[in-house]
Amino acid sequence: MSYVTIDQVTKGYHQQVVLENISLTLKKGEFATLLGQSGCGKSTLLRSIAGLEDVDSGTIFIDGKDITHVSPRQREVGMVFQSYALFPNMNVFDNIAYGLKMKKAKNIKSRVTKMIELVDLVGKEQSYPHQLSGGQQQRVALARALVMEPKVLLLDEPLSALDAKIRKNLQKELKRIQKELDITTIFVTHDQEEAMTMSDRIFVMNKGKIVQSGSPVEIYTSPVNTFVAKFIGNYNVLSMEVFHQLVHSTELNGKEVAIRPEVLQIVPADEDQMSVQSNWGIKGFVKDVSMTGNVLRYEVETEGAALLVDDLHHKGKMLEQGEQVQIFVPKKECIIL
Ligand SMILES: Nc1ncnc2c1ncn2[C@@H]1O[C@H](COP(=O)(O)OP(=O)(O)O)[C@@H](O)[C@H]1O
Ligand SMILES: [Mg+2]
Repeated sequence: MSYVTIDQVTKGYHQQVVLENISLTLKKGEFATLLGQSGCGKSTLLRSIAGLEDVDSGTIFIDGKDITHVSPRQREVGMVFQSYALFPNMNVFDNIAYGLKMKKAKNIKSRVTKMIELVDLVGKEQSYPHQLSGGQQQRVALARALVMEPKVLLLDEPLSALDAKIRKNLQKELKRIQKELDITTIFVTHDQEEAMTMSDRIFVMNKGKIVQSGSPVEIYTSPVNTFVAKFIGNYNVLSMEVFHQLVHSTELNGKEVAIRPEVLQIVPADEDQMSVQSNWGIKGFVKDVSMTGNVLRYEVETEGAALLVDDLHHKGKMLEQGEQVQIFVPKKECIIL
């Protein structure tokens, strides 16, 4: 049984279609991510689920109930935005308690206290937003949404404004809290790495459509088209014609070939050839080399295409700019699109 169902949702502004026939389902407790470039419709979809936008057609169900035309307050969803949007004149405790007070809820003090513990802000109850770091403010925003015990938590790029280190930290915290509460979550990001580390399931969006859904591993290892291959994992995508020329073989057939940078092996041109049964060899020269983390990334110019090659182990010496090289392409790693 699915807990959230979005069935053929379409929405446009003026003449422009922003969401085109979006359908997806989520299980209770699932952490799902909408991943896509800026402008592809992620926020519009999230806001439609929250009831902040009306959809033109289609249906949205939460926990078996059709909420397509229900007011935002009655949808039982919580939302956190990129901008913290806290009440500047209220302290942490009052910011978190606000929604409960409006509802004249019971046990406000104990519920808020529990949330403050959950998001690790004990001792900051009396602080005002301007006295908190960005990361702390976002914890308050999260607590403020969660204290209402929503059925679904909607997060619109909640970490995008934070520094890399704080961001990594909050990614872990957010996952911990989400698992602890077992709360069904839809997270929006344009950062593929963030989507990979956080999600049970990813929905890749492009131009108002969902182009692929699956676990992070499925999406990473089996992209369905050129867009996903390029957007996720920096695949080299070559037309079949160019590929045939490069490897002097017409063994593969299809429109395009996608190859992940880290499956390619790079060696100096004069080094011994590897087994030609399982590999194709391509000649080229190093156009550029850079280091990120502990990965050496080469940009290699070949006859017909520039290829990205990631050397994760770099047991040998670093190859230099301008150096003649050979690249080995493992046949089984070539994905035909
Ligand atoms: N209120 C609006 N009026 C007109 N166009 C809008 C409005 N909100 C969003 N759009 C347009 O809809 C498209 C998708 O926007 P959005 O959902 O914010 O994308 P994302 O969150 O993926 O960056 C964009 O082209 C944007 O310009
Ligand atoms: Mg957005």
